[in-house]
Amino acid sequence: MTGPILIFDSGVGGLSVAHALRYAYPAAAFCYACDNAWLPYGVRQDTELTARIVAVCLAAVRACQPSVLVVACNTASTLALEQLRAALTIPVVGTVPAIKPAAHLSTSRHIALLATSATLRRPYTQTLIDSFASDCCITRVAADGLVVEAERWLGGYPPSQMRLNAILTPLWQAARDTPPMDTVVLGCTHFPLMLPWLEALSPVALNWVDSGAAIARRVGQVSETFNLGHHDNRSFTTATAESLCAGLADYGFAPPELLHLKN
Ligand code: DGL
Repeated sequence: MTGPILIFDSGVGGLSVAHALRYAYPAAAFCYACDNAWLPYGVRQDTELTARIVAVCLAAVRACQPSVLVVACNTASTLALEQLRAALTIPVVGTVPAIKPAAHLSTSRHIALLATSATLRRPYTQTLIDSFASDCCITRVAADGLVVEAERWLGGYPPSQMRLNAILTPLWQAARDTPPMDTVVLGCTHFPLMLPWLEALSPVALNWVDSGAAIARRVGQVSETFNLGHHDNRSFTTATAESLCAGLADYGFAPPELLHLKN
């Protein structure tokens, strides 16, 4: 099957993954779909969220006939990958916290996982930690507020240093622990969009690890048939979002069309 690479997230976070994918596949065609009507996912109940993710992804797949679906959302992937794969015939690539590369990088063996509160409590996340970082101390930092800040930023409003520090204080404390935390897993795709601020506010130099490059590698393994000829780069939202037009355009996407969900 040929078709574009469809990238899905609750909001603008998937644009950090779009960036990594465009870098890896500059000639490929992309579509972007986000469920901005239900944002943020990190504070939603699991059962209603699973059904919603499947409904939105099916609608987006109907709209753009992709060759592969990239679920560019840790909160969705750690919950609904199985259900999505059962509902679709195209390959589905998920995004999960980059615990394994972080464990390779950390010399102090103290890692922080910065993610939504939902991703932090998922059994999938615990299994990643047990499998790849069982010898590491893990500081879990719930940063649902950082999702909101990233949405505001892509809508044209820079974050305030005070609000960011209020969210990130547990990270800065972990960096002063014994042993000191030296590596942060950006376990939400919204967070790489905020990296310049994170680096500027951090009291010490840290390794910041995201999943972008690993997702790009995985996409290349599951599908070599991206549509290379037709670059309409459509985008889709579940609620009208004038404020997203500029942010989507910065990442090469056309103004959003409204997605129609089947009841
Ligand atoms: N970007 C999403 C993630 O990677 C979640 C943001 C949200 O809470 O909606 O987890």
